[in-house]
Amino acid sequence: MDFNAEDANIFESALSDDSSRSRVYIETYGCQMNVNDSEVVASILIASGYAITSNLNDADVILINTCSIRENAETRVFGRIDLFGQVKKSKPSVLVGVLGCMAERLKDQLLEGKKVVDLVVGPDAYRELPVLLRAAENGQKGINVLLSREETYADISPVRLDKNGVSAFVSIMRGCNNMCSYCVVPYTRGAERSRDPHTIVGEVQELVNSGYREVTLLGQNVNSYHWEEQKGLVKHKISFSDLLEMVALVDPRLRVRFSTSHPKDLTNEVLYTMAMYENICNHIHLPVQSGSTRILHLMNRRYTREDYLDRIDAIRSIIPDCSISTDIITGFCTETELDHDMTLSLMREVGFDFAYMFKYSERPNTKAARQLADDVPEDVKTRRLTEIIELQGKLSEQSKKNDVGKRFEVLIEGESKKSKDEFFGRTSQNKVVVFPKENHKIGEFVFVEVTDCTPATLIGHIVEE
Ligand code: 5AD
Ligand code: SF4
Repeated sequence: MDFNAEDANIFESALSDDSSRSRVYIETYGCQMNVNDSEVVASILIASGYAITSNLNDADVILINTCSIRENAETRVFGRIDLFGQVKKSKPSVLVGVLGCMAERLKDQLLEGKKVVDLVVGPDAYRELPVLLRAAENGQKGINVLLSREETYADISPVRLDKNGVSAFVSIMRGCNNMCSYCVVPYTRGAERSRDPHTIVGEVQELVNSGYREVTLLGQNVNSYHWEEQKGLVKHKISFSDLLEMVALVDPRLRVRFSTSHPKDLTNEVLYTMAMYENICNHIHLPVQSGSTRILHLMNRRYTREDYLDRIDAIRSIIPDCSISTDIITGFCTETELDHDMTLSLMREVGFDFAYMFKYSERPNTKAARQLADDVPEDVKTRRLTEIIELQGKLSEQSKKNDVGKRFEVLIEGESKKSKDEFFGRTSQNKVVVFPKENHKIGEFVFVEVTDCTPATLIGHIVEE
């Protein structure tokens, strides 16, 4: 998943200035799944009479949608809750609610704590938010952290909060059954369930109708998406590759991306579907976590180094110009220098275009926390992470240098942060390109010739097709 656990997405949208409504401010941490969940929350609250504000000081209700994936993600949220406590001191009527993964994991601690938090709502209980808010308005603590086997919010049209009007996330499943030994997600987000494909296609069609040009299908493990429906006497099965095709067929001018893939479930069928439809982007995020089969086994990833490299070969032969990004955890329990070297050598062998890299952070009650010692010293974790980041820096630079001199179709997503005269957009391979605006508009597709690059972006200019 294009993962940004350390970055907050603070929504910049005043969706209603109706002053008679209670105003809700939503701040989101964690993955894209969480960003999409906040959009579902906004939709539920607007439907029951609330307005959304982007101004913290203007809010009657402050909601923080939280992440538990690493300890530092939780520490940051606690810092924000302290700040909301200050806001509450000057305006005692304000309600503060904690949503998402930390609500699930730390319910009691959050409510007992410093009396800042009025509301604790887990990822499967957002439909209850209006009821819980009313209870909290009457001085009761509102709590619902029940996980569900069915909830997919299939019928709810998310309100696009961070609107650029060009690209949107569409959730296709929830939860996770993989039980990677380090990971808290199965505990905070519950069991895996897939969303009705007809509601997914419906949501994508609505997005196209309102001018969107790109969707990213989201799930913890999209390749294990499956849906069964009875058609007369026949049971009809829909796999991820079928769903991908259904979404690609909604509109040939709509770009389709997806995240995250699990190496054990990425089939050739999915790769052939990607190759067949021009509008399915040539980028796969395939978290490897480690290059050592021994560590992968302890992580319960259910593939070996060789299995992973076999998937890379398949991608390269079926979609030759596909970019590949990954996630890496360094310093997992018992990791030796040899294991670490195997991660570095796998990185070189694959030549990842991009990577998210993390130090292992022990999460309470996971299988690793229960059964394995977190025995790699902090300074060793830091040094290994530095080595991994340095190597990836070189690989990312090489990946960009390889694009210089080539032409790419680019979807214009917005104005460059550095210059009012330039746009930024992305290639099918998910690389950011900056180029002079000329007479074009956000949301258009243009062809860009890449002439140069910085460590972070490609630089180019628009050319005729
Ligand atoms: N410690 C460090 N990184 C983790 N991730 C998941 N759990 C942990 C953990 N306990 C990373 C993995 C995953 C990404 C979303 O976060 O690399 O793919
Ligand atoms: Fe998203 Fe929860 Fe995972 Fe954080 S812990 S990244 S919020 S699923």
